[in-house]
Amino acid sequence: MPAIVLVGAQWGDEGKGKATDLLGSRVDAVVKFNGGNNAGHTIVIGNEKYALHLLPSGILTPGCRPVIGNGVVVDLGVLFEELDALEERGVDTSGLVVSGAAHVITSYNRTLDKVTERFLGSSRIGTTGRGIGPTYADKMARIGIRVQDIFDEPVLRAKVSGALDLKNQILVKIYNRKAFEVDVVVDELLGYADRLRPMVADTTLLLDRMLNDGKTIVLEAGQATLLDVDHGTYPYVTSSSATAGGACTGSGIPPTRIERVVAIVKAYTTRVGEGPFPTELLDEYGELLRTAGAEFGTTTGRPRRCGWFDAVIARYATRINGVTDFVLTKLDVLTGIDEIPVCVAYDVAGVRHDELPMNQVDFARAVPIYETFPGWQEDIAKARTLEDLPRNARDYVAALEKMINAPISAVGVGPDRDETIAIRDLLP
Ligand code: GDP
Ligand code: IMO
Ligand code: MG
Repeated sequence: MPAIVLVGAQWGDEGKGKATDLLGSRVDAVVKFNGGNNAGHTIVIGNEKYALHLLPSGILTPGCRPVIGNGVVVDLGVLFEELDALEERGVDTSGLVVSGAAHVITSYNRTLDKVTERFLGSSRIGTTGRGIGPTYADKMARIGIRVQDIFDEPVLRAKVSGALDLKNQILVKIYNRKAFEVDVVVDELLGYADRLRPMVADTTLLLDRMLNDGKTIVLEAGQATLLDVDHGTYPYVTSSSATAGGACTGSGIPPTRIERVVAIVKAYTTRVGEGPFPTELLDEYGELLRTAGAEFGTTTGRPRRCGWFDAVIARYATRINGVTDFVLTKLDVLTGIDEIPVCVAYDVAGVRHDELPMNQVDFARAVPIYETFPGWQEDIAKARTLEDLPRNARDYVAALEKMINAPISAVGVGPDRDETIAIRDLLP
């Protein structure tokens, strides 16, 4: 009855989508447990490239059941657009199941996300503008709209009306925007009901039964450890629990049933949006990583900020998630760099920190302490075992493994499904 959690170890875009896809046909269900269409997973299968935002990566694997868990926030318009786009390309999406307890991203929350960011000016978070933060805020404030509400018009109307009593005050009086009309919001949501109804189920029960039947379930995180609302670089985070603990609350699968926690970590570091980033490179090396790694957002197209590998945050991810295995991705992107620095600790006002500083103000002024490793020039895209790698690449992988306190069980050497070095089976 194995449940496996898959999380990002940095600030997102580590290659989680590809990693889930790799587990492929041996997985019976892939559950998205947090976030919404702020995520962007690019998966390359042969000549085909898929960009998924809201749907779990398992949707591309025939026979694997994709599940949108209770911890997710769902933009129903985006859901159907994404399903239609996949169907047009011949992907069978009929197995999708959506939790009735998941929250719905409403039009007023998409607007509030954007106007709040504008209002914050230079203090903005750099959100994806998809309404994620306001929707989770409503969930916690107990004024959210849930998937199950869409099927009960009086309940839906009462909830939307109650939420708008408050939201319209904010929109009109603080942000100088037009008020939203209850009828318009309700009609839009009701418009999705017929198509949505057959997809909705008690996903916690479904998943429990699957585990009892000995099925293998992957719980796939959106975002990543340093974007987690509790454990990330708050306030420059997303509004959900993107770490292994969130996999339990966001799916209803209890901690006692999780057998492995796999973290995806890039061979260097990237970040999208605002917030501290100690190893960020504002020079030609940053540009080089961005170009070689095609580091542009899958969701917003924004150029990703790039920097060297930060072993302090990766080690932190090991601790917070209880990582049992790492998948190291994008090693190929470092090919051709003569010397590769790795951040092993921080200097904060003259004091060495081997762990993440407790205080965000300290983290914001942390200066990386680097150790430098010799690079390699050979193309590594065809490597399928560690022995196929040039000596320096192998040594780089071994050095990182030592710093991050958990084994590296696979290494990515290119975007394609096949461009991977498998070291240890990720499934129990
Ligand atoms: P996610 O959000 O964690 O799923 O990651 P994204 O899909 O946003 O970003 C990862 C990008 O790296 C995608 O375009 C992948 O196709 C690509 N990718 C994944 N693994 C590798 C790898 O080992 N090498 C290279 N060059 N690209 C990779
Ligand atoms: P995947 O799943 C990278 C960032 C945004 C912003 C902050 C808050 O592809 O790794 P939000 O819209 O969530 O309120 O924005 O979080 N962010 C991501 N960065 N990858 C992601 O997802 C992200 N999802 C959100 O850029 O800084
Ligand atoms: Mg992404």
